[in-house]
Amino acid sequence: MASFHSDCLVMGTGIAGLSFALKAARFGQVHIIAKNLACDTNTNLAQGGIAAAMGEDDRLELHVEDTLKSGCGLCHEDAVRIVVDEGPRMIEELEEMGVSFTMRQDRPDRPEMGREGGHSRRRIVHAKDMTGQAVQKVLAEKALEHPSIRVYEFCLALDLITEPGKDGAMRAVGAWGLDRVTGEVNAFFAKTVVLATGGSGKVYLYTTNPDGATGDGLAMGWRAGAEAANMEFVQFHPTCLFHPKRTNFLISEAVRGEGGKLVSREGLSIMRNHPDGDLACRDVVALAIDAEMKRTGAPCVFLDITSKDPEFIRNRFPKIYDTCLSLGLDITREPIPVVPAAHYQCGGLLVDTWSRTSLPGLYAVGEVACTGLHGANRLASNSLLEALVMADRAARAAREEIAGVPEHAGPESAHWPAATLGRAPSEAVLITHSWEEIRRFMWNYVGLVRSDHRLRMAQARLRLVKAEIEEFFRNFEVDADLVEVRNIAAVADLIIRSAMERRESRGLHYSLDWPDRDDEHFRKDTVLVNPLPSVLLSQAERS
Ligand code: SIN
Repeated sequence: MASFHSDCLVMGTGIAGLSFALKAARFGQVHIIAKNLACDTNTNLAQGGIAAAMGEDDRLELHVEDTLKSGCGLCHEDAVRIVVDEGPRMIEELEEMGVSFTMRQDRPDRPEMGREGGHSRRRIVHAKDMTGQAVQKVLAEKALEHPSIRVYEFCLALDLITEPGKDGAMRAVGAWGLDRVTGEVNAFFAKTVVLATGGSGKVYLYTTNPDGATGDGLAMGWRAGAEAANMEFVQFHPTCLFHPKRTNFLISEAVRGEGGKLVSREGLSIMRNHPDGDLACRDVVALAIDAEMKRTGAPCVFLDITSKDPEFIRNRFPKIYDTCLSLGLDITREPIPVVPAAHYQCGGLLVDTWSRTSLPGLYAVGEVACTGLHGANRLASNSLLEALVMADRAARAAREEIAGVPEHAGPESAHWPAATLGRAPSEAVLITHSWEEIRRFMWNYVGLVRSDHRLRMAQARLRLVKAEIEEFFRNFEVDADLVEVRNIAAVADLIIRSAMERRESRGLHYSLDWPDRDDEHFRKDTVLVNPLPSVLLSQAERS
């Protein structure tokens, strides 16, 4: 086993990880580990865009107000103001780096502003319906060619390495990474460690997320002792394509922003009774669709944009148009069958306004983190924005921090404690079963509509599956499936426990037993603290 040393170790190559890395590379050596190819990220799939108050009729204050309203009383106003205020500068930086956003036809020097639910103005800077891809490509190219950045692709982070710091408190000093090509586990030591691993949509049976969204960073941070917050707030996107051949394809909210209407099988407007209609916030729209499907027994509802000019649709939504056409659906002529699906984790590792977790030396940026920006329901297109702003702030904080941290005195080679027990599993299929079981009961019992009884059933099932997974983990050789299912189980546990603590309904957490919002008792974050951080698996054993 080899060990590698750097100033900053980054896990994840989406917008958060790469933009942090490019900034940190101005003052130090950066190592990035990516479990697949560097471009295989959730960012790459993001369609809608980046919210920034840059339109002529817009103001920062309006963006702040919309974000606070969407967050249903739980946003941290300091975080909201920081992220919103720094947004326009982040867009300019991306443009300077070479990202091509869609520009206005009448003012080709200014980005065209898209509209999405919950925004009182047109505010979404976008690259047609492929914004994430446009950003990912530029950032990845720059990172891969940067002399101070080394990217280790196909390297799956297993657990953080923690050690007592100068003051005796535990500190993150690196991570164990499984080389998925050679099967070796290597140690990556660094003065600061940054989790930018994205979200955990794969906890649920139906999701818009790619296969890699297995909550790895959140689970690792939690196991190592960092606090987690607001994990009950899982955002279900109202409009995931309903098609047997493409179960995770998103139909961007921008389709509704440009006039798409949600309708029942009979063509009746689903959002007809809401003052904001089809552009209400996501929590409201997703619940309305769920209620309609339960009432009628229909497997989906429909998103109809056929009233718009076909040329406009093809030009504004080329990715959605082409993908649907390849499945035999012409969206300029037919309504799109859609269902809600798990989309975004609003909670995560609790961080301050400099992206620092409660574990010294450990930062979390992007979906893995809970900054307080999203509160109980994220406003559309605030996530790429948050990742950019918080990565920038993390880089500034890390620059100061590493000046006072000595080079890790770790050995040239290190030994991963858990690996000593490894032997090949005789029935790997059991891992697949555990994975399917968790995703199904999370969908059935901890989805859009919850109840105390359902949460208890989910917890009882999870307890059994978790015990099996831990046994596998301790007795058999690690591989990506086992590591990911272990992480999924850890995240599911945090979601269930947080949902049980919140005995009210607010934003994305809706309980049949506690249908009202209760500001007196629950206008606060749900913070979970790990009483027993797993020191055994996180301490580097010197060989
Ligand atoms: C979308 O395009 O609807 C997704 C944007 C987001 O999740 O913010």
